[in-house]
Amino acid sequence: MASTNIFLIFLLAALIVTPVVVAQLVSIRISGVVLCSVNGNLDVINGLTPQVFSNASVQLRCGTRNVVSSTITNGSGVFSLVVDPRVNTLLLLLLNCRLVVATPLSTCNASLPSVGLLASSLNLVNIGIGGVGGRINIGLGPTGFILNINLIF
Ligand SMILES: *[C@@H]1O[C@H](CO)[C@@H](O)[C@H](O)[C@H]1NC(C)=O
Ligand SMILES: *[C@@H]1O[C@H](CO)[C@@H](O)[C@H](O)[C@H]1NC(C)=O
Ligand SMILES: *[C@@H]1O[C@H](CO)[C@@H](O)[C@H](O)[C@H]1NC(C)=O
Repeated sequence: MASTNIFLIFLLAALIVTPVVVAQLVSIRISGVVLCSVNGNLDVINGLTPQVFSNASVQLRCGTRNVVSSTITNGSGVFSLVVDPRVNTLLLLLLNCRLVVATPLSTCNASLPSVGLLASSLNLVNIGIGGVGGRINIGLGPTGFILNINLIF
């Protein structure tokens, strides 16, 4: 197990410095679920699970405001984005990018705020090798969506 991890670290380090090769070898997918909630948590007082937030616009924003990619959640609140690993290296994604839900929470539940947007940073969910030519499939996901009242479209 330890040797596998060391191998992957070396592999990722090598891939970060050779962007042309990366495009053919690496696939990075960002996916997750958006809930109709200011913090994604259970409603402890009432013991309710938040509803899913369907038809919500999910943006990948890097740097201060730059929208790199976007998609819409499906009927289960699920979104999935594939990014170009040459432009959006794993390191940049983890350090400099975040997910922003550009649809206000009041859209899914009128009693939730119409000001501010949900946002989350990214973390590594899984890494695997598979498919034709042994592509490295990197899966990233949100650390947790939290309402940020300073965020605008
Ligand atoms: C989501 O969008 C589809 C197509 O525009 C629409 O038919 C559906 O009613 C919407 N669902 C919700 C929960 O807004
Ligand atoms: C939403 O996408 C997920 C993942 O692809 C899928 O499992 C789920 O069935 C989809 N839900 C709807 C309502 O399409
Ligand atoms: C809407 O949000 C309020 C406040 O969080 C909650 O009490 C209510 O159950 C939500 N409504 C639905 C339909 O989920």
